[in-house]
Amino acid sequence: MSGDPQADALANRQAWAEWAADYVEPGRRAWTGERAAGWGMWHQPESDLGVLGNAAGLDVLDYGCGTGYWSAWLTRAGARVTAFDNSPAQLATCRRFQEEFGVEFPTQLASAGLLDPAAFPDASFDLVLSEYAGLTWADPYRTIPECARLLRTGGRLVFLKIGVLLQVCWSIGAAATTEELQLDYHSLHRIEDPNDGSVAFDLPSGEWIRLFRENGLVVESLRELRPPTDAPPIRHTFVTLDWARKWPAEEIWTVRKA
Ligand SMILES: C[S@@+](CC[C@H](N)C(=O)[O-])C[C@H]1O[C@@H](n2cnc3c(N)ncnc32)[C@H](O)[C@@H]1O
Repeated sequence: MSGDPQADALANRQAWAEWAADYVEPGRRAWTGERAAGWGMWHQPESDLGVLGNAAGLDVLDYGCGTGYWSAWLTRAGARVTAFDNSPAQLATCRRFQEEFGVEFPTQLASAGLLDPAAFPDASFDLVLSEYAGLTWADPYRTIPECARLLRTGGRLVFLKIGVLLQVCWSIGAAATTEELQLDYHSLHRIEDPNDGSVAFDLPSGEWIRLFRENGLVVESLRELRPPTDAPPIRHTFVTLDWARKWPAEEIWTVRKA
């Protein structure tokens, strides 16, 4: 482990105070339910990927809910959702949408990897979900044991993150992804962006698997996403559709507590 987890959470809180405004309109579109629930930058439909399946009756923790559209979708699908996020600005958007769309679920300000066991008891969830959230912005050496603690036996941790190839082809702080390896793969862990001070995390794939197993989590699937050729344009500019058609820009891990 490196870095101070409290300081990293505060740095990311500051960064998200700046970025939250850009997430309001995309969040609203997702909350309307006009388009089916979807994953990642190209919004690849859950109905095609079948990652979550039937969520009815599940106790779900949205592990960094952002604008809360996954929480809304899961609540509408019959799950009992608890949501938290590290950013007051993002939570304010989420709470505004709860009122606007009449979808209720509890939300609170908290930081992945630093959850209070009194507020988030052991073995209280069937599904922990992170889409570019707690599993991206906090240290996996804290978050993976925490998720294992929160899950019931047989429960799943599902998280979407930047694909590891994209991670190493992206020079930290650069505006665009390259087609050349930039980062030291073996040293992947804490990635601080010099432009804004935000801190993201990733690990070599084998190290993720070792860490899962050390915490009693068994890999069920690794989905390496490939957007369709006719995918609509996205607002992010650091990776192109052409790149993501050749290499997996995003990946979804599903691991189960044994
Ligand atoms: C891209 S959003 C993803 C959330 C959701 N899937 C969405 O798209 O609205 C990233 C979220 O991670 C949150 N985040 C950053 N660091 C966090 C931490 N340590 N614990 C919990 N959430 C965190 C941010 O505040 C932000 O709301």
